[in-house]
Amino acid sequence: MRHLLSAADLSRGDAVLILDTAAELASVTDRSIKKLPTLRGRTVVNLFFEDSTRTRISFELAAKRLSADVINFAAKGSSVSKGESLKDTALTLEAMGADAVVIRHGASGAPHRLATSDWIQGSVINAGDGTHEHPTQALLDAFTLRHHLRDGSGDLAGLRVAIVGDILHSRVARSNVLLLQTLGADVTLVAPPTLMPLGVESWPCRFSYRIDEVLPDVDAVMMLRVQAERMQDAYFPSALEYSRLFGLDAARMAHLPEHAIVMHPGPMNRGMEISADVADSPRAVMVEQVANGVSVRMAVLYLLLGGRQEETS
Ligand code: NCD
Repeated sequence: MRHLLSAADLSRGDAVLILDTAAELASVTDRSIKKLPTLRGRTVVNLFFEDSTRTRISFELAAKRLSADVINFAAKGSSVSKGESLKDTALTLEAMGADAVVIRHGASGAPHRLATSDWIQGSVINAGDGTHEHPTQALLDAFTLRHHLRDGSGDLAGLRVAIVGDILHSRVARSNVLLLQTLGADVTLVAPPTLMPLGVESWPCRFSYRIDEVLPDVDAVMMLRVQAERMQDAYFPSALEYSRLFGLDAARMAHLPEHAIVMHPGPMNRGMEISADVADSPRAVMVEQVANGVSVRMAVLYLLLGGRQEETS
């Protein structure tokens, strides 16, 4: 595989290989010197046209732990704000010898455009495109689920996961549904009808408009942020009503089975989709999700770029 564009491109074998590799690489993080020489001399460019905290830092750290050179390119403050196109930006990166381009873009399909062009020769990794996909987030979520609810190996057969909130605008939800289904888990999407994507009936999962009916029967619940920046219309009457009907607070969390975990890809809107006491509770694994993100992205970079190491040696 040369690129990672969609969770749908991953077979069960591919996904398990990435998760197993991530588990091995996670041990690097426990050492006093957190570095492997694997990608020495390779260049990874972080090309971010949209805001990001976790994903950008996580890719940067992952590439650095594998000894790659890292260039962080944020559209704000670059020639993109002078009107430079994706093509000219890509040609510039190619001229500078980028081996991998990690791209986040507001337009769904931008990473595919880059990967199918002849603008760049290196690997393209989708770090979130519009409302479409975010495959490395799905991988880190699968890694976290496997660690907590399985014995840390194999797939996720039979695991029950609810994904709750603004599904309509969520690339995290789409990538998770695709990957979790590949790994054998059973996913239920929960949202108000206005925030459920059109054609959800054809997605490989169940869906419900009532969170309280779903929570007692899941092993994990993944809460999603209401993405106000992607909303031109009013999708629900008020924030208060939304949090009352779809937010996870302590009273609702009590209906989860005892072993179930609470996840959130971040950034969280405390008080909206998740209450502060739930976010800070021991059942919430958000901090672990972030840590696992580094290991999973190390694995992706290692598997996409490491195999071509011999060409340079
Ligand atoms: C998400 C994203 O950007 O898609 N965050 C992330 O990458 N961890 C979700 C969001 O913005 O709500």
